[in-house]
Amino acid sequence: MGKLKNQVAIVTGGGRGIGAAIAEEFIAQGAHVIVADINFTNNQTEKQINMSCDITSEKAINEVVNETIKRFEHIDILVNNAVTKGDVADITELSLKSWQHSLDVNLTGAFLCCKKVIPHMIEQNKGSIINIASQLGQVVTGKSLAYCSSKGAIIQLSKALALDHARHGIRVNSLSPGAVETPLLIDGYGSMDTAKEFLEKKHILKRLGKPEEIAKAALFLASTDSSFVTGSDLLVDGGYTSI
Ligand SMILES: NC(=O)c1ccc[n+]([C@@H]2O[C@H](COP(=O)([O-])OP(=O)(O)OC[C@H]3O[C@@H](n4cnc5c(N)ncnc54)[C@H](O)[C@@H]3O)[C@@H](O)[C@H]2O)c1
Repeated sequence: MGKLKNQVAIVTGGGRGIGAAIAEEFIAQGAHVIVADINFTNNQTEKQINMSCDITSEKAINEVVNETIKRFEHIDILVNNAVTKGDVADITELSLKSWQHSLDVNLTGAFLCCKKVIPHMIEQNKGSIINIASQLGQVVTGKSLAYCSSKGAIIQLSKALALDHARHGIRVNSLSPGAVETPLLIDGYGSMDTAKEFLEKKHILKRLGKPEEIAKAALFLASTDSSFVTGSDLLVDGGYTSI
């Protein structure tokens, strides 16, 4: 019963949006999920453990991973999903501090989580890592250089880790959504209606994605359904990058 029965997953940034949908889907498929976030809109349940964790802090990440191992003795899945959208600015306007914060959350946070989790996966000779990238890791939009750079880099980070750790039974993939109806878009555009007006037409499907649609793709990458998939960037973007 369930594609992830008795598996243990850590999902960063799962306090809302796509990460929350991924946590929900994994739990529905039988997993225990540790959600690591700085804010939570969803509740802790028997199967979901919420842990306060700023992924720019190596110490906080160590605590999450140590606690997970203490409770469950294994970690099967890591989803690096936490994000900051960063400032809307071109390079003449963007401060070094803002650039660094975006890279700290969107890229170095994933690096640190992988650095702490992969030794456990090596010991188990098993693991699936999913780095949530973006269509903007492949194409760009205006005044979003830190976001786009971090997303391009995380696609490459995934491929590099896939190569180094295939021999340890670990698969590493990135998942690149198109625009998805989450609070991130409301933060960026002021309202979902404005976001839709601007973004829907950029997708072949002429609509935004739903968090549940991204969660289904994450389930595919997490489960043995994708046993021959590693070093891949799975675009779930409604055709955004095709036009
Ligand atoms: N929504 C979209 O249109 C879209 C499109 C492409 C890619 N993505 C990617 O999907 C992922 C999820 O995006 P979303 O739309 O659900 O975003 P969101 O803003 O709704 O949720 C992001 C979560 O990350 C958490 N977070 C932020 N900084 C953190 C930190 N320092 N430590 C721990 N947690 C932190 C937030 O508290 C929040 O719960 C991101 O990687 C994003 O880049 C989203």
